[in-house]
Amino acid sequence: MPKDFWDSISARYDRIMENDSQMKLLHKGILDRLPLSAQTVLDLGAGTGVLLEKIARRKGIQRLVWFDPSKKMRIKARQRLNGEKKVEYMIGNASRLKFKSGTFDAVVSNFALHHLTHGEKAACAREIWRVLKENGVFIFGDQHCRRMGTPDDPVWVGEIFSLLCKKADFYLTYGSLERMLLQVSLMPEFLLAKGEILATVEYWSGCLKSAGFEGIEIAAVKPVPLYNRIIVAHKRSAP
Ligand SMILES: C[S@@+](CC[C@H](N)C(=O)[O-])C[C@H]1O[C@@H](n2cnc3c(N)ncnc32)[C@H](O)[C@@H]1O
Repeated sequence: MPKDFWDSISARYDRIMENDSQMKLLHKGILDRLPLSAQTVLDLGAGTGVLLEKIARRKGIQRLVWFDPSKKMRIKARQRLNGEKKVEYMIGNASRLKFKSGTFDAVVSNFALHHLTHGEKAACAREIWRVLKENGVFIFGDQHCRRMGTPDDPVWVGEIFSLLCKKADFYLTYGSLERMLLQVSLMPEFLLAKGEILATVEYWSGCLKSAGFEGIEIAAVKPVPLYNRIIVAHKRSAP
């Protein structure tokens, strides 16, 4: 995936996603699981700020952080959030979080962490655990795959190709031609695991457990065969 891919798509992103029902379900699923007591929230891979805008409207929210590597996505998010004083912006990679330990009540993320390499995913889980306060929660929606594999495994490539075809078909039927074309244009990145690096929910659970998280819950988001899941993980208080 070209380094500037997200910059280059930022102007069209909201329009492409406008009719994407799975994205709406994922955002709702994350919001429904965000504790009402959360006052400080970090959104990793926040993009144009659709999820952050919804979180900002909730009572009790004091500090929200938009976090993403794309400067042009930041421009779009700033336009959307239009002077919202609770929101701060930070450019960066989700596997390296430049915040003090114990900063946030909640960390959220949607459709972003599959861009990390598998090694970065493990580092990201450790970083999220570090920046959460005790009793903090990580709520994460993303696309996953049925089993781990690499592009040199023809069986894995076949499975991913079949999954991508289902996604493209879903987008064309229930979304828009533009959404389907975006999915199709990204097929090489998924099949070569370059920038679109699917993992299983079990892989993520392992990363989260190794990082110290407990009480990990996994919920399927429709359409179930597309492997969209929401994972919730808790940082319990010290004994
Ligand atoms: C599909 S968009 C999702 C945006 C938003 N979360 C939403 O729900 O609409 C993926 C976002 O992940 C961001 N991203 C890509 N690589 C990332 C990384 N290493 N760390 C954090 N965010 C990343 C991209 O810049 C982009 O804004």
